[in-house]
Amino acid sequence: MKVFHHRRDISQHIASLKKEGKYIGFVHTMGALHDGHISLVRLAKQQNDITVVSIFVNPTQFNDKEDLKRYPRDLNADLALLENKKCDIVFVPDEKEMYPEPDLRVFSFGNLDKVMEGKYRPGHFNGVTQIVTKLFDITTPHRAYFGMKDFQQLAIIRKLVADYGYPVEIIACPIVREADGLAMSSRNKRLSHEQRKHAALISKTLYKAYQTGNSKPFDVIKKNVVDTINKDPYLEVEYFDIVDEKTLQPVKDWGIPCRKIGCIAVHAGDVRLIDNITFNS
Ligand code: PAJ
Repeated sequence: MKVFHHRRDISQHIASLKKEGKYIGFVHTMGALHDGHISLVRLAKQQNDITVVSIFVNPTQFNDKEDLKRYPRDLNADLALLENKKCDIVFVPDEKEMYPEPDLRVFSFGNLDKVMEGKYRPGHFNGVTQIVTKLFDITTPHRAYFGMKDFQQLAIIRKLVADYGYPVEIIACPIVREADGLAMSSRNKRLSHEQRKHAALISKTLYKAYQTGNSKPFDVIKKNVVDTINKDPYLEVEYFDIVDEKTLQPVKDWGIPCRKIGCIAVHAGDVRLIDNITFNS
């Protein structure tokens, strides 16, 4: 496994691999890797000749600087894990390498980034887009892998690729969960023992809502989800919305013909967790 720290070196290396006709699969990450990330790596390995993973905790996507400071980092463990999974190339730039100058680019996604994460974390998706575009430019992958856990991020990346005509295929990967249903996340490492136990209620409640499905009106389902989770003393819902898969705008009732996704953000102490579920109807 080759580890690069400088953009010019990795770009040259990938360019020479592409000249040999190799297909490049790319996984963007912020490290503190878990099985969710590894599921993306695994799929990239199946579908491409060369798998490239980036590890970079991107400061511009953190609207809360405390959150950035507290974000878990464990580079040695990450590299050992990637080596073990037979990843081919890892890119670990530092901040100067990625932002030699402040990035002043402002991206527009219409209504896609006005809701949910975009509403509660202003500037977050602009920062995500700044780093994702820089990394696309450096690694020029044929395919890039994104988890459905960050559903809104995936929708925004798809729009970005369509708007700017990036020659990359975006592959959506299913949510990987712990045995009790909690969606895997680097942030789970920051949960106390008690918070961790209680956090399983989030996915359990989403799953119940999924099972109830269109047998109950929207408002009833939404209220049930929020009330059930808020009753737990360790958890507090920031938002729960049922949205159109494509537009991400809240849907008013089951009759609207679109795929519906229930998206949630929950605070467990100072740890913020997100999850989502796809409804059948
Ligand atoms: P990070 O949270 O490290 O996630 C990296 C990738 O792993 C994302 O595509 C995310 O959706 C996916 N992922 C995380 N947990 C997952 C799970 N339980 N199941 C499936 N996929 C999962 O998302 C980011 O970093 C950043 O915003 C990034 C795109 C790297 C830009 O900085």
